[in-house]
Amino acid sequence: MSTTQTAETVSRLRCIACAATPDSAAQDFRCTLCGDLLEFFFPGWTSTPPAADPAALKSLWLSRCTSRDALDQSGVWRFREFLPHIPAEHAITLREGNTPLYRLPRCARATGIENLQAKHQGMNPTASFKDTGMTFAASSAHQGKFKWVACASTGNTSASMAAYAARGNMHSLVLIPEGKISWGKLSQSLDYGALTCQLRTDFDGCVRILNELVRQKPVYLLNSVNPYRIEGQKTAAIELLEQLAWEPPDHIIVPGGNLGNSSAIGKALLEMRDLKLIWRLPKLSIIQAQGANPFYRSVREFGGKKLEAMTADTMATAIRIGNPASWKKALRVLQATGGEVEQVTEVEIAAAKAEIGADGIGCEPASAVTLAGLKKLRRSGFVKLGESVVLILTGHLLKDPDFTIKFHRGDLFTGTPQETEAAQTKPLQRAPVVLDANLGAVIAALDAAERNS
Ligand SMILES: Cc1ncc(COP(=O)(O)O)c(C=O)c1O
Ligand SMILES: [Zn+2]
Repeated sequence: MSTTQTAETVSRLRCIACAATPDSAAQDFRCTLCGDLLEFFFPGWTSTPPAADPAALKSLWLSRCTSRDALDQSGVWRFREFLPHIPAEHAITLREGNTPLYRLPRCARATGIENLQAKHQGMNPTASFKDTGMTFAASSAHQGKFKWVACASTGNTSASMAAYAARGNMHSLVLIPEGKISWGKLSQSLDYGALTCQLRTDFDGCVRILNELVRQKPVYLLNSVNPYRIEGQKTAAIELLEQLAWEPPDHIIVPGGNLGNSSAIGKALLEMRDLKLIWRLPKLSIIQAQGANPFYRSVREFGGKKLEAMTADTMATAIRIGNPASWKKALRVLQATGGEVEQVTEVEIAAAKAEIGADGIGCEPASAVTLAGLKKLRRSGFVKLGESVVLILTGHLLKDPDFTIKFHRGDLFTGTPQETEAAQTKPLQRAPVVLDANLGAVIAALDAAERNS
């Protein structure tokens, strides 16, 4: 395994608000002058001539696909020239990334977008997109010789952090809201050995306590305010463009929760353009659940000038976030790429999830906001017929089986204000059929299904 520092990977930290360039970050990864977030930048990339040769980079990255080296086999570390330098001896990898890009033929017919694909980040080692950022940030914790790492989470970050901490021989502390978190995700952090604390609050309450904690204890913060997370998550966009032979799609659509993922993908798009790896920018659009829509409201009501925190509520628990940390970063990439922001209802999310499932792909509820958002963006004319669209599916179907089973049994909206609206999703439901154990009953069920197909 090798990583060498070259002119390309010389990186600096910079505050996104006051542009201060500290030599190192404080425990909470916030600017010590103004309190805003830090990001990495690469001075060599904007020099003339640029430090990197785009054609050479593309062929180097491709050549690593046949390597037996663990770092080359990772879909994150394979692109290490695009990331700050971390010495190989600190790299913790589960061969993350390398996620498939699928066509969605049924969803394409339903939306009228013929060229519709999904990059399935749920096909990562712990089954969510978080692994791409976590491999990199956990490695930086290892480099910093931290004994403990910690995060506040709606479930996927904690699952991912716990796995990478275990692989790197570090202890992990998880703060999650009690209730409103899927059992699948909770079971992961338990199995990977984390100290898992379910706090009687929501995600935003967990974040507040964790921020206090890292100021008092030598614990390494692994939430997405950590700029190493953002760097690792950039690679999803690079890998996507490589899969598309470096021909950018017209649109990329992502779910928005804490807004780290959209910031990372947007950062990668802008940097790829700076390095002349691509010549044109896809429009990056961000979709929120209507009950957890502070960013949508910030953009639509306040022109992005401020963000009002809210108490979030959605069954898509992964994005049940009312005070997104990275909203300014996300706003910048939304504006720079000319993307749009949308919100979708609970029923629209549930229907879109079943439609993605019917294409044989499946995802967790938070990921399905992308398809639901695409339908709205089609209706508003923002996405035009003939344009190409890539949805970023962020988590695996099996992360939240409760939601799926309730949906197909027709129970998901029972007793909720959406019960009437949800009636329209009936044709998408495939409840299990309980039958007597005889051949005749099975054949009758088969014939009935055939008549309805
Ligand atoms: C499955 C899933 N989708 C989307 C998101 C939102 O990503 P972000 O918080 O980076 O906006 C999350 C965050 O936890 C998630 O777990
Ligand atoms: Zn600052």
